[in-house]
Formats: sequence, structure tokens, C-alpha cells
Amino acid sequence: MGKVKALKPRNIHRCQACGHVESKWLGRCPACQEWNSLVEEVDAQGNARTSASGIADGHAPIAISEVREIDGADRRSTQIGELDRVLGGGLVAGSLVLLGGDPGVGKSTLLLQALAGLAQHGRILYATGEESVAQTAMRARRIGANDARLSVVAETDVEKILAHATRDPAHPPAILAVDSIQTVYTPLLDSIPGSLAQVRECASRLMQYAKTSGVPTILVGHVTKDGGLAGPKTLEHLVDVVLQLEGDGGPYRVLRAHKNRFGSTQEIGVFEMRGAGMAEVANPSAHLLAERAVGAPGSVVVASADGARPLLVEIQALVAPASAGVGRRTAAGVDSNRVSLLLAVLAQRANCDVLDRDVFVNVAGGLRLAEPAIDLGIVCAIASSARGRAIDAKTIVFGEVGLAGEVRAVPLCEQRLAEAARLGFTRALIPAQNALRIDATARAELGLELVSIDRVVTALGWL
Ligand code: TYD
Ligand code: MG
Repeated sequence: MGKVKALKPRNIHRCQACGHVESKWLGRCPACQEWNSLVEEVDAQGNARTSASGIADGHAPIAISEVREIDGADRRSTQIGELDRVLGGGLVAGSLVLLGGDPGVGKSTLLLQALAGLAQHGRILYATGEESVAQTAMRARRIGANDARLSVVAETDVEKILAHATRDPAHPPAILAVDSIQTVYTPLLDSIPGSLAQVRECASRLMQYAKTSGVPTILVGHVTKDGGLAGPKTLEHLVDVVLQLEGDGGPYRVLRAHKNRFGSTQEIGVFEMRGAGMAEVANPSAHLLAERAVGAPGSVVVASADGARPLLVEIQALVAPASAGVGRRTAAGVDSNRVSLLLAVLAQRANCDVLDRDVFVNVAGGLRLAEPAIDLGIVCAIASSARGRAIDAKTIVFGEVGLAGEVRAVPLCEQRLAEAARLGFTRALIPAQNALRIDATARAELGLELVSIDRVVTALGWL
């Protein structure tokens, strides 16, 4: 090799499938014959950090009962209630948080707002590799995040970002944010920014920094088309917290914790994207139902509880004559494979065959619902549209639908019902097994008429 690399440690290329090591990159691993499996790494001899988890503190083992618990005092509030709740009560010292989501969903906006809120704890260092300093400042002014304690640097070299962070050891930043992990790189590797090798190495450098300095560090990460955090599936087990910001077209965004070493993964946060940034939605059910098409066939309200928080959401279906000879299915906000399955159940088990027609299913407000408890809602919306008969506006439904056309119990039944009662609903179609477990006193307290449903056909009969 003619290239002079005097200043760089020698890098290796390790097969991700079998662990075989080559000195140069190859398209195919000579050991296990896997294609495209070699990824560049800094040679472990000169640099052991790639594999270090960063939490080793060099102390002797101590009794687990003697270890102080993480409490409120260790958490830094972002001043955004919905975000704090998903984090488990604020950012924990020394934690590494990954904020993921589709491009344009609002990650940078939410981050900037959170950083402005965190500025009360001290100086914030925001490294942006996606947008220029001027663009970031313009956005900060627009969304009211224009705080003098927030310093921004357009830098993509992770070593330089860390140099900025550690310049004044007596005054470390209160928070370090890197937007995004796909744009940063370390010159120690030859791989391009965004490659698996770079993403992994940069993230582990930043983790090392967070753990040794105690500075909470936030990384923004993009999601690829197949839904994974680009490259960083590997990042998910490296970081302490994985937050995912979701939205499906409409103005609403749901923030979930896919992983949280310091809190529950059941909490969700709901936001609305407005002209002046992300606004917290404190009463999401009321918002989501505000524009409902009351009295129109194909519309039904489901009580979803993705996470611990019940949400009432309108599901809409439209069944139309097939435009292309064969029936098409289009689903927004729900899994289209699930819709296909439910259409087959409707046809085979409930005398409602719309397989030869076009079927559109939509979750109003642009939310994405992933739990099976909304099955019964999808089925009822489709049947309602197919038959041209509207569903009573004060009725909610939920239940998981099985292949035999049976309606199965779902978790958090009482919380869903309480939310429905709170918003003025008068009747609920719920799985029979759930209904059995609710006694007379609980029923009276709810003030809802409960209809016990064991099969899809029964539900359709009722509606
Ligand atoms: P952004 O935070 O840049 O998304 P990400 O970092 O996830 O790629 O937000 C992108 C979109 O949000 C952009 O298309 C414009 C819109 N937006 C608003 O509607 N209101 C606002 O106040 C801001 C800042 C952005
Ligand atoms: Mg961005």
C-alpha cells in the first residue's frame, strides 16, 4: 500500500457475521462467504473503546442495597411535560439518549425546544451537521428557543465536537446534543459518514464522553425506509434511551420510548406540529375527535392504549367499487397486512364480503396505531361503510379479532372505558372476557352501557 497513514492507527475490517478480520475491505468475507459483511473498526490494540461499554468505574464491588437509587435530583427537566414523562421524569446525568424518527417528522424542532428548556441547568452545546448555524438560529427565533446559554456549532467531526465539549474542564456543558449521528464522522476511520462503521464508532465515542463526564448526551438518528434506525440497530443496545417520534401525515406526533433504562416504555407523549414548533397536546383524545364526521358511515371511535395512556381515536374506512378490476387496500396509520387479514375474517366469518372492492382505512389525525385492540374498530368501520349505515356517535369499540372471527380480551380495559366516559361516550362494545371481569359497582361508577361482544358477527349486529 502506497498511502502514507503515519498519523492514523491501522484499521481493521471485521465480518459482522463470523468475526473474521481482514486488513482491507472486501465485498465478501473469505471465511464465511457472506456478502457485504465487512465493517471497518479502529484496531482494538491501539483503541479498546469500540467494545467498551463505558460504565466501568474502577471501584471495588459493593452491596447492591448500598447503591443509591437514581432519583428526581439526578434528572434534568426539559420543561416540556410530555417529553419529561416519556423520559421517565427528565434527562438522567450521564445518559445517552437517541431521538429517532423519519426525516421531517420534527426531531430537530423538538430537540431545539427541549434544549431551550434545559438551558436553565447551564450551558448547552448543540452540534449540528444537518443545518447551518444560521438556519438553526432562524428556527430557534421562530419557536422561541432563542436562549443565550444555548451555543450552536456546525461541526461533523466527532473529535472536534468532543473538543468543544471538553475545552473548559471546570465548566462542562449541561447537555451535549448531536444532530444527527448519521452526519458525524471520526477521521480515525476511512468509512464515509453514515456508514455502519462511522455511526457505531462515533456513538461509542459520545457514549464514552457521557459516561465519564456525566453530561447527558442526546443523539438524533434518522430512520431508514424499512423502519430501522439507519445503521444503528446496533445503536439501540448501546444507548440508554431510544425515543421514537412518529407521525403519519397529519399534524399530530407521538413520542414513544422504545427503550428506557431509567423509566417505563409505556408512556407516550403527544404533540401537534404548529407554525411555532411542537405544541404539547394535554388532552389528545378531545383534540383527535374534534373534527370527527359525526353521522357518516365508515367512522368509528376506538379506545386505543398503545402505552399506558388511553387515547380515543377515530378510525375511518371507505369501501368503494374496485377501480382497477381487483380490490385494492390502502391503509394509513394502521398495518395494511392487518387490514387484509381483517377483511378475510369479515368475508369468511361475518357475511360481509368486500374482497373485490377498494378499501381505504385511515386513522384520523395522522397517528399510527399498532396494537391489536383496534381490530374491532377497523372491522366495524369497514362494515359500516360497506353497508352505508352510520355507527352511533356516542359508542366506542375495542377488542382484538382472531382468525375464527372471535373477539379477544385486551389489556387496560378499565382505563380505556374511563377515558371514554370522561369524553361523554355512553356505550362501549368490549370483549366478552373483559366484560366478565368488571363487576356491578365498577359498571355503575363508569356510567357507560357495556355491551359484551364475543364474535365479530355479534358486534356488527349491534351496530
Ligand atoms: P424538523 O424538525 O426539521 O424535522 P427533522 O429534524 O425530524 O427532519 O421539522 C421538519 C418539518 O417541520 C418541516 O417540514 C417544517 C415543519 N415545521 C413546522 O411546521 N413548524 C415549525 O415551527 C418548524 C420549526 C418546522
Ligand atoms: Mg433535523
